[in-house]
Amino acid sequence: MDLRILVIGDIVGKPGRRVLEQRLPAFIEREKIDFVIANAENASGGAGLTPNVADRFLSLGIDVLTGGDHTFQRREIFPMMQENARVLRPANYPEGTVGRGVTVVESRGGHAIGIINALGRVFMPPMNCPFHEIERCLRTIASKTSTIFVDFHAEATSEKVAMGWYLDGRVSAVVGTHTHIQTADERILPKGTAYLTDLGMTGAYDSVIGREKDCVLRRFVTQLPTKYEMAEGDEKICGAVVVVDAQTGKARSIERVQVQGDN
Ligand SMILES: [Fe+2]
Ligand SMILES: [Fe+2]
Repeated sequence: MDLRILVIGDIVGKPGRRVLEQRLPAFIEREKIDFVIANAENASGGAGLTPNVADRFLSLGIDVLTGGDHTFQRREIFPMMQENARVLRPANYPEGTVGRGVTVVESRGGHAIGIINALGRVFMPPMNCPFHEIERCLRTIASKTSTIFVDFHAEATSEKVAMGWYLDGRVSAVVGTHTHIQTADERILPKGTAYLTDLGMTGAYDSVIGREKDCVLRRFVTQLPTKYEMAEGDEKICGAVVVVDAQTGKARSIERVQVQGDN
């Protein structure tokens, strides 16, 4: 039996939430999606995630929310992150950090699905080694399921590609988040792991990676500190659908997704 799993890239602010409200439930229905994973590090005001927004995502059909370098921006999420196994933060934070970076959750059809979230270290804040940390996470869930998704939240393409090769044949998919721009390098690696360097942003594309264009331009051109506003317009859901053989956990296919919203 095959599982159809939708992975969604960084949901950015209100435009990201709006396009999900407009398009996600119908997409899940039409594409017969069994399970949805979404990166929500920018969901509330462009940085962080609040419990209300997290609850709304879970009721819209998203099964697991992953995080990134902005995850801890809103402290209101800390208790939810501690209690709710569907809301992750990157696994390679220092020991003792609130929440978890690995989880196993049942799909609507009753299949156990493992999700691991980690941060890259190249051009990113210093963290524990993501390679070793994911290795540890795998040891804790390998006996529970062979269907395992990794959201590797990282800046450098090389680090992401390296993670794909490192995990080939041991997880169902390695997908990247954080850059907010979808890459076109989807493939199934030789031992059966689906790979895509970046899923792309779910938010407003009339922008510079989700922020209002003029603010960002002013900063680049003048080099003066500038407050960034959220952008609106040309709103899309971006991500990928990965089809996985539920028996073996190997990926059969990976297809990029871009769904245009009304705004
Ligand atoms: Fe992001
Ligand atoms: Fe990020």
